[in-house]
Amino acid sequence: MRNKKYSNTERLVDIYSSHLDVLTNELDEALKDTLFHHAIISSGAIKYRRMDDNPFPFKTNPYFCRWLPLLDHQNCYLIYTPGKKPVLIYFQEIDFWYKSAELPSSFWVNYFEIIIVNSIDEINSHLPNNKNECILITDEYLEDRYTFDIRNINPKNVINIINYGRSIKTEYEIECLRKASRIAVKGHHTASHKFKEGASEFDIHMSYCKASKHSENELPYKNIIAINENASILHYQHYQKQKIKNPRSFLIDAGAIYNGYASDISRTYAYDCNEFKSIIDGIDQMQQEIIDLIKIDMNYIELHIKAHEKIAEIILQIGLANGSIESLVKNKITDIFFPHGLGHFLGLQVHDVGGFLENSQGKEINRSDRYPFLRLNRKIKENQVFTIEPGLYVIDLLINKAKVNGTYKMLNLKQIEWLKPYGGIRIEDNIRVLDRGIENITRNAFNESPIN
Ligand code: GLY
Ligand code: MN
Ligand code: MN
Repeated sequence: MRNKKYSNTERLVDIYSSHLDVLTNELDEALKDTLFHHAIISSGAIKYRRMDDNPFPFKTNPYFCRWLPLLDHQNCYLIYTPGKKPVLIYFQEIDFWYKSAELPSSFWVNYFEIIIVNSIDEINSHLPNNKNECILITDEYLEDRYTFDIRNINPKNVINIINYGRSIKTEYEIECLRKASRIAVKGHHTASHKFKEGASEFDIHMSYCKASKHSENELPYKNIIAINENASILHYQHYQKQKIKNPRSFLIDAGAIYNGYASDISRTYAYDCNEFKSIIDGIDQMQQEIIDLIKIDMNYIELHIKAHEKIAEIILQIGLANGSIESLVKNKITDIFFPHGLGHFLGLQVHDVGGFLENSQGKEINRSDRYPFLRLNRKIKENQVFTIEPGLYVIDLLINKAKVNGTYKMLNLKQIEWLKPYGGIRIEDNIRVLDRGIENITRNAFNESPIN
């Protein structure tokens, strides 16, 4: 039995240690039948604009971050050699222009042999001599000065094993994903309050960043903060600065990061308690019905297909089109209102890797011809984490497209015109698959800190 004094930090260290065991076994397996003796994982390098000293925002290589959560540390290198304690080459440039990285001190430090270096040139002296025995794992194109003559960069067989592994989360990763959801929920609460107060998109966005304690560059993806018709644009990228005179609807898609792991959460709000509000409630309910259908060994695409049927039902209820559920799906009327995928893997990347990997040898599953935007077409397994995010949008471009095929006459344009000023609806939760059932990471976070 666990001692009652087992603190949160101790628990984190405990599950982190087991997480490292998984990564170690995975790399041992990946290197086993190769000529390579060392995997070198780069944290990444700062990139500058051409003819400028203004850098692009830095994002740590997710393959590096999976080992240790250094989120703002370029030019660090992890050296993994099977059977040996991993070595961290920790870059601490001595510079008077920028603040140097602090000396590492966190729950993970004891698991690495840490070598501090003060310049790029110093790094090579700590790397294995024989570069033919090394592979380099990076998520970007690195200039030669950062690759140190290692020619085997991201060999496919090794990356396939890692990517396949990344799609099954460890307990440590799940804890990070929970924390990322809890942080995002703080921002979501503030954002919905601000909308009710009539704030501009820009003000709502800034209040989200403040409440979640994320600067814009730290967010896992650009917040979607869309009021009224702007909510019809799937990845609406602007923040209107003026207050909106007649707020009707608010679609927010915004996440947070914890130790490199992302949350990805969408909610939609009606300004008044009206018919639009009841449509949001309908989507919210159907989203939970889809989640209830999740079962191990079913293919994710089955959920996507079910979502189309349920969206068809809602389209008929609201009167956006005429016909049967089957005819709406068959004639792609549902694609007009729900043109995106139902969801994707979530982890170190918002659209995490492995959605089309059948096995760790890299056998690829084809994208669906019928649903080309679906990013996940795999069998559901325990400890996968993915999003479930159905939507219902009024998108002129897609409605007009239907004019050129015969399906236009199935649409009820009067009702569509009525819905158009509200833009669209999306409800998105982050789901962990359990042996029996699921853990709704997002709704748990909302329930822990209910809106007041
Ligand atoms: N926020 C990006 C997405 O939902 O996929
Ligand atoms: Mn998503
Ligand atoms: Mn999202």
